[in-house]
Amino acid sequence: MPYNFDRVCDRRNTDCAKWDFVQSIFGRDDVIPMWVADMDFPVAPQIVEALIKRAEHPFYGYTSPGPGVIEAVVERMKRKFNWTIKPEWVVFTPGVVPALNAAIRMLTHPGDEVILQEPVYYPFFPAITSGGCRIASNELRLVNGRYEMDYEGMEKLFQSKAGMTPVPSRVKAVMLCNPHNPVGRLWNREELIAAGEIALRHGAVVISDEIHCELLFKGYRHTPFASISEEFAQNSIVCMAPSKTFNLAGLEASSIIIPNRNLRREFSRIREGILPAPNLFGYTALEAAYRFGDEWLDELLEYLQGNLDFVLQYFAGKIPRIKVVKPEGTYLVWLDCRDLGMDDMALRAFMREQARVGFDDGFLFGSGGSGFERMNIACPRTILEEALNRIESAVNSL
Ligand SMILES: Cc1ncc(COP(=O)(O)O)c(C=O)c1O
Repeated sequence: MPYNFDRVCDRRNTDCAKWDFVQSIFGRDDVIPMWVADMDFPVAPQIVEALIKRAEHPFYGYTSPGPGVIEAVVERMKRKFNWTIKPEWVVFTPGVVPALNAAIRMLTHPGDEVILQEPVYYPFFPAITSGGCRIASNELRLVNGRYEMDYEGMEKLFQSKAGMTPVPSRVKAVMLCNPHNPVGRLWNREELIAAGEIALRHGAVVISDEIHCELLFKGYRHTPFASISEEFAQNSIVCMAPSKTFNLAGLEASSIIIPNRNLRREFSRIREGILPAPNLFGYTALEAAYRFGDEWLDELLEYLQGNLDFVLQYFAGKIPRIKVVKPEGTYLVWLDCRDLGMDDMALRAFMREQARVGFDDGFLFGSGGSGFERMNIACPRTILEEALNRIESAVNSL
């Protein structure tokens, strides 16, 4: 175990979004921040070395992704998912969220609709509405503690009517999040086929955000949406990035994989002059992570599995009024707090004021999120334990 994930590092005073703005976000400075999706672990030393080496060459001019960067993405898709992609399919953007926004602008006109499945990562909402489109919400179903997609509901969203007369659907895209933030489901092949076929049948493009796809718990394997069939590949935009897996969110480098030539050309057109490429350090980190980060990642995944087991046991044994929705991927844990009987504002205040933990409130993730909280467990175990102790005391004092 060359990497020590137990080590507590002080991230304060580094302009760190997670730790340095706790007072302004949570209204007090003594909460343990467990909200935004980055990890309290230093990145793999191989990535640091590559960045230092690049920084020591004091020319930071305009940069284009070289063959090494593109090859690193192509090789990774093959090695991790047995997915063969062509180098020209890869389009680099400074983050996945800007790419989602650009993809929606490209696929829609104001007044069109985009399907998403709530509760879902909240930047999906403005990605749809800020360009004048409407959200067509297909809420996930919680069945025996596990979330499922509602295919019938999805199908219905394509059936538009003016009075009794059917009219062409205005749904132009379906957004998938796989693994799904915040509920932690890893959609399997059958589920992806079911959703993908509905989209195909109705001529809607699938935008598949797979940013968390390498953060999986034991026994799970990810299937990239576009790897399922040629038809799916031609009807999709797949968003990948090393940023969650390797904790590089501040470097903003993502690879958007678009096998369809026309969609790719349109995507490049719509972004022109607005959405730049990543900066040169982003490329350096992406390449180093994909080429040299696997040993670190294997140990990280072991550690996260240990954290998840600890969380599951702790809630079941000591805080049974809060139920954990067991995640299959991501390091985000969706807590069902409905048994506490609080409305959303009371639950938010309870977590901040009584428990002194800084979560993302469930209602932020849209319908189906009320009464839930999202906890980020990517931190040293001692911090996690302290947070759980605090929640336990707070719940016991109710
Ligand atoms: C599902 C999902 N997509 C995208 C992002 C953010 O992507 P980026 O920082 O590359 O814009 C996150 C961050 O938490 C996420 O959970």
